Amino acid sequence: MSAKLEFMRSALKNTATMPDDRPIGLPGAFYTSTEFFEHERTGILHDGWHCLGRVDEIPNSGDFFTSQLLGEPLLVVRGNDGVIRVLSNVCRHRSMPVAEGRGNRKLFVCSYHAWSYGRDGALVRAPNMFNASFDQSKCGLPQLRSEVWRGFIYVSLNDDATPLAPQLMPLDHMIEDYETESFRIVHAAEEEWACNWKCLVENFMEGYHLSVVHPETLRGYTPTELCSKAVSGDLFTSYHANYPNNIPARGRGAPGLDDGQRHRSTLFSIFPTQVVSQSASLLVSLSLHPISVDRINVRWTMSVYGDDLSPEMIDQRIALWTRVNQEDRDKLIRLQAALASTRAEAGPLASDDFEGTIRDFHRFLAGYDEIPVRKN
Ligand code: FES
Ligand SMILES: [Fe+2]
Repeated sequence: MSAKLEFMRSALKNTATMPDDRPIGLPGAFYTSTEFFEHERTGILHDGWHCLGRVDEIPNSGDFFTSQLLGEPLLVVRGNDGVIRVLSNVCRHRSMPVAEGRGNRKLFVCSYHAWSYGRDGALVRAPNMFNASFDQSKCGLPQLRSEVWRGFIYVSLNDDATPLAPQLMPLDHMIEDYETESFRIVHAAEEEWACNWKCLVENFMEGYHLSVVHPETLRGYTPTELCSKAVSGDLFTSYHANYPNNIPARGRGAPGLDDGQRHRSTLFSIFPTQVVSQSASLLVSLSLHPISVDRINVRWTMSVYGDDLSPEMIDQRIALWTRVNQEDRDKLIRLQAALASTRAEAGPLASDDFEGTIRDFHRFLAGYDEIPVRKN
């Protein structure tokens, strides 16, 4: 390991262990160093759980969509048994992707030499393969570790990843009344953001910027001064963006919600790359798939509870969130350029209610880094 990387790892640990009354951020190099990104790509990102989408995007057997995570082409498909699997989207013959986009298939027929795979990834046909040593049963598409939690589909590139759901118990308990799993998707969009992935996690997860960056879109509903820190754990953090008392609840949502839950949005992150806003009737999730140190593929989805929102209201919410995302994106592009400055040193963070979630994120990064560095 290079001296620079060693130095950065110890700086990260130092940041994460600062006393609670003296929280600080990370220096710019953590967001701009290609060497550190490579360290993350083969470590914390490779081993982490990443959200790919929602289960109701593929409700029927044979429904599928493709995705890409850290250079790995993925095929997410619902099998004949109703189970959602995440398969390698790389043909076992000579590595052509076996599917593109989304749709429904009985078989996935490779476009190169027509090897055909079933919905569970098994190779069912390989035309003209007369070589005696060829064993069709050993040429299925590899299945990756995946999990479904509250209607979200997750994957890890690490075959030995610790199961996700048990690590989310306190978060799961906090949001269970919202019935997140029963929200139905109404919108999805994919875009590229020119910033480091950690900048977007931190930005989404702190309420400190809300009134400043979103004066017209968010300040009226979720002003900074009403934000309050909520539960956190090794793999997640959260805060409440509370609505002012004079603002009516926006939709009723699930029957088990109380007035407090209807009068706030709960923002949570499942580390490393998912950020979510949960409110009574609306669920917005961003999956950040890092491409390089300063580029992310961002896929965001919007889901709604039952028929709480009319089609017109849904269109309004989509337009609002498109604008909010644009406001954040513009800021983060400018931030990314400045983070390359030699003067981009670790600055003091605001109190827990405003930026305590960033501390949690840095503790997660530092905690992972105590695991011996991978060899590959
Ligand atoms: S690469 Fe797929 S069949 Fe040849
Ligand atoms: Fe924002």
